[in-house]
Amino acid sequence: MAEDEPNGGDPGTQGGPYTGPRAADYTPEPDHSDDPRYVTRTRFLSNVAFAGTGVLAAAILVPVIGFAVATPLQDEKYRWIDIGPASDFLKNPPPYPNATPSTRVGEVTSLAVSGPTSDADRRIYVVYGLKDPSTRPQPTPGEDAAVFESKFQRWAAGLTAADFDLLAIWNRCAHLGCPVAYSPGSAGYVCPCHGGAYDSRGLVTGGPPPRPLDRVDIKVIDKSKSYTPEQIAQGKDRVPLAVAATSSNPNLRVLVGKPYSIDQEQQSFPLADPGYPVSGTLSHLYPFT
Ligand code: FES
Repeated sequence: MAEDEPNGGDPGTQGGPYTGPRAADYTPEPDHSDDPRYVTRTRFLSNVAFAGTGVLAAAILVPVIGFAVATPLQDEKYRWIDIGPASDFLKNPPPYPNATPSTRVGEVTSLAVSGPTSDADRRIYVVYGLKDPSTRPQPTPGEDAAVFESKFQRWAAGLTAADFDLLAIWNRCAHLGCPVAYSPGSAGYVCPCHGGAYDSRGLVTGGPPPRPLDRVDIKVIDKSKSYTPEQIAQGKDRVPLAVAATSSNPNLRVLVGKPYSIDQEQQSFPLADPGYPVSGTLSHLYPFT
């Protein structure tokens, strides 16, 4: 009988009867895994890992989103700036009844413009010139000078105000931001840093720049007239260049406004930092490229 045996019949226990739990007495712990209010160790660790991932994602995404949002907000600080009378910029307009190859067709003017913010200080080139400079005749090798002059004269005589436009070009190189300079000899802009080259409209003709020079909104207004903000937003305050170029009205003024970027097809895009293309495959990786 077990009662007669030392240790209550338990061969593994010494020094008295075994009083601990027995397998027959074991009651399993209740399973709370389906109870959302009960925090198991596994659930606790999962929550910690989830929160940590969220913090890491926020650390990466917040600066990127801020970068994307801040630029448009900053653009709104730009305002129209009066840079002078129209006659200072709309120089050498058509017609050209007796032009020679040395006749000035339009004009490029340089001036410094301070914007409302410290990073808006810029020098711009105001270009009153041909919409398509490639139409200008060039002498062919061996061509008789008199023949070329006659060809040039016929071409210039056919020009009208509709062949011209007015641009404001920012002198910030689109490669890494060095100041470019206009070269009258080559009728283009050159960058001293890495040899970037642009034509008179700021389109890239050589070197590393990934896009043309940025431009600045420009318009001619008659300051003696007033317009509502809606009319101004619709451009109804703008004096047509064909009128402004031949007018002696002292109230005609040239204003420059918000900068923007363009691609080689002269499509407009929101202002981008130097070094970034604004169209094409690489532009989709901006600002990671
Ligand atoms: S900064 Fe102008 S070419 Fe590099």
